[in-house]
Amino acid sequence: MKSEIIAVCPGSFDPITVGHLDIIRRASQMFQKVVVVVMTNNSKTPSFSVEERMEMIRKTAADIPNVEVDAYGGLLADYTRKRGAKAIIKGLRAMSDFEYEFQMALTNKKLNPEAETVFLTTSSEYMYLSSSMVKLIGSMGGNIQEFVPAAIHEDIQRRLSGKDA
Ligand code: PNS
Repeated sequence: MKSEIIAVCPGSFDPITVGHLDIIRRASQMFQKVVVVVMTNNSKTPSFSVEERMEMIRKTAADIPNVEVDAYGGLLADYTRKRGAKAIIKGLRAMSDFEYEFQMALTNKKLNPEAETVFLTTSSEYMYLSSSMVKLIGSMGGNIQEFVPAAIHEDIQRRLSGKDA
């Protein structure tokens, strides 16, 4: 049985990878609703616009009925409060993720004690995967087919190789 809790799955999703999709899908089996939110206020300069990132998530998660896609430019703690979300879903790939994620979890808990961070262990086949790696490979002409969801693979490959400029 699914928890009645609304969960938020935040990230840059620049672009969404098969690793992200795996976490979203698994969270959707645990919680009543999963809001995948593109956070727009971090210091990284994105390769894809907020609308493009949201559209890519919508396309890839189209078969998951309890997933909603949104974007937010403020603090994650304020967003969870606004949505009444009691869980923040994060994927953990390796120990190297842990320190930063632990710090963010404690900060978010301080800012909104109502929301708990829930870490899901990344499936072993995606442990090495990141959006940065996808962008690097794609921009150097490599094939990113197995790293990004099939529904958006061609769009991403074209953009990263500069062929749609
Ligand atoms: O996909 P990413 O880039 O690893 O996601 C990081 C993200 C966007 C989830 C994180 O930077 C974030 O939550 N940013 C919003 C600002 C915020 O609330 N930061 C945490 C408290 S300092």
